[in-house]
Amino acid sequence: LAPVHSLRVGGAGWSQQICIGSLADARDLLRGRFRGQGAALVTDRTLLALHGSVLEDLLPLRPLLVAEGEAGKSWTTLQELVTGLAHLEHRRDLPVLALGGGSVGDVAGLAASLFKRGCPWVYIPTTLLAQVDSAVGGKTAIDCDGQKNLVGSFHPPELVICDPALLDTLDPRQLRAGYAEVVKYGLIDDPAFFGWCEGHGETLLGGDRAAREHAILACMGAKARLVGNDLHDRSGRRALLNLGHSFGHAIEALTGFGPVLHGEAVAVGLVMAARFSERLALLDRREADRLRAHLAAVGLPSSLSDVGLAGRGSELLPLMLQDKKAQGAGPVLILLRGIGRAFIASDISADELGRFLAAAP
Ligand SMILES: NC(=O)c1ccc[n+]([C@@H]2O[C@H](COP(=O)([O-])OP(=O)(O)OC[C@H]3O[C@@H](n4cnc5c(N)ncnc54)[C@H](O)[C@@H]3O)[C@@H](O)[C@H]2O)c1
Ligand SMILES: [Zn+2]
Repeated sequence: LAPVHSLRVGGAGWSQQICIGSLADARDLLRGRFRGQGAALVTDRTLLALHGSVLEDLLPLRPLLVAEGEAGKSWTTLQELVTGLAHLEHRRDLPVLALGGGSVGDVAGLAASLFKRGCPWVYIPTTLLAQVDSAVGGKTAIDCDGQKNLVGSFHPPELVICDPALLDTLDPRQLRAGYAEVVKYGLIDDPAFFGWCEGHGETLLGGDRAAREHAILACMGAKARLVGNDLHDRSGRRALLNLGHSFGHAIEALTGFGPVLHGEAVAVGLVMAARFSERLALLDRREADRLRAHLAAVGLPSSLSDVGLAGRGSELLPLMLQDKKAQGAGPVLILLRGIGRAFIASDISADELGRFLAAAP
């Protein structure tokens, strides 16, 4: 591979090699990793049709197809994958290969972590969300009993091959949704990167290769830094990555997981976190306005009414209170003292939050 960027990220007990560049150039890298053997490839039908042939030129493939999108994160799919790997006589010292968005990655990673008590996996993320977020940090999961990510493990892919050109076939709405997570990293602790987003967001979404590479590199680095030595999410430091997500998850749940894409819900959630911070006199109004303006400029929703929930803010409160991130007495929220100054606020009054939600536009 002649990658534009090759880096190793990790912390205590975890390590991932990341290559950002053209998939077509990854032949030697992949052949080396699969030791000349064919690869069990977990992907969906759409991605196999769109990008399977490029991969097939690099190494022999034995595809294991999963249902598209969130539907693939199920017990049924997990069982099919494990059985499929057994039928392929997959060796536990060889990696499983996954090609797809966060959904494919989540179920493929979980299958790899369970098959013969765990085998490595190699991930080729195909959505912006997966390239900037889910490919790093090792969380795998399926949904169960109506709850997202109820069953899962921590099992990072040992190698991520990230080709921004794969995003060219992605639906523009999906691409934009993934961009909300890009903005999130600027808001958490990198004001300069937020400024870069304001200047380059539209270019990135328009297909500019250099802008995409810059953002992917920045976000993967930021995610790895925020995961740090806490792969298993025990110390709470990974919690900052949930900025916008308590509001966002409640929006997804209220709309029945699907009509509002995860990233769209996060975009609204980021603005709500900023507006709530403003209400608590933690954040200057101009900073919250600046965030809303940028998200609106790139075509992301930034209010409840933008996602069809006008006047329904109160219904978010019970969903937020039952969110798994809410521990102890009151809800725990990630709030902002400024752009690039997110912090964990654990002393939130549920009444105050309720009044804010009831009035949220
Ligand atoms: N493990 C983590 O750390 C982590 C982090 C964030 C999100 N997630 C999970 O990721 C999932 C969402 O993933 P997502 O947003 O990447 O979408 P997705 O994986 O659900 O894919 C959405 C759709 O886009 C299609 N698609 C994917 N790549 C394409 C491409 N290049 N060209 C054309 N079509 C393409 C897929 O076939 C699918 O129909 C959620 O389940 C979420 O919980 C996991
Ligand atoms: Zn997210």
